[in-house]
Amino acid sequence: MAGDEDLRQRWNRRHAAATGRPEPMWGLRRFAHLLPPGGRALDLACGLGANALFLARRGFQVTAWDWSDTAIGRLRQAARDAGLDLRAEVRDVVVSPPPPAAFDLVLVAHFLDRGLCPALAAALRPGGLLWYQTFVREAVNGERGPSDPRWRLGTNELLHLFPGLIRRVYLEEGRLGDPAQGLRDEALLIGQRPRAEDT
Ligand SMILES: C[S@@+](CC[C@H](N)C(=O)[O-])C[C@H]1O[C@@H](n2cnc3c(N)ncnc32)[C@H](O)[C@@H]1O
Repeated sequence: MAGDEDLRQRWNRRHAAATGRPEPMWGLRRFAHLLPPGGRALDLACGLGANALFLARRGFQVTAWDWSDTAIGRLRQAARDAGLDLRAEVRDVVVSPPPPAAFDLVLVAHFLDRGLCPALAAALRPGGLLWYQTFVREAVNGERGPSDPRWRLGTNELLHLFPGLIRRVYLEEGRLGDPAQGLRDEALLIGQRPRAEDT
């Protein structure tokens, strides 16, 4: 669709203009102790791929998808520079979602397509982990993240989007207490696909 192509080109321009080294997301750094020792990981809508690089450094076999060829080109270069082996591919993840039971870890940062969520849960192998962190409507600083509220999560929405996963970590602090502390403007879910013995 023409609208999608405009949006993809906008992302290409943003990724081309980005300077500095992007940081892995807060929820990945903070809860890195929950990572398994390795396995197949997917960074979906990876952008410049800071999370993909982090996971590759931790010994995962990483696949990273984004529809921006600029982002994927920059990520491949960053991986080469760091001596890391990862598969970065240009892919429209809405048109081509991940196949079922293919990954031990699926990570999504700052991307929201509600229709894709059942495929993301199904893409996990039994025991596999979903790491999902993105923007909420109840933000302290609404300037961070998308201006269109449709692309921000409602209250507790991540929990409702992934009802079949075991909730290992869920954070959504809203505007409570001291807004200078904690994870603000975003929600984080780390969920696990049950194994046969968990059900
Ligand atoms: C806000 S950026 C987040 C990038 C990265 N996950 C991060 O947190 O740094 C959103 C990303 O989603 C990508 N994107 C948007 N729609 C997409 C689609 N249909 N298929 C693949 N990637 C898409 C954009 O190109 C962009 O890189």
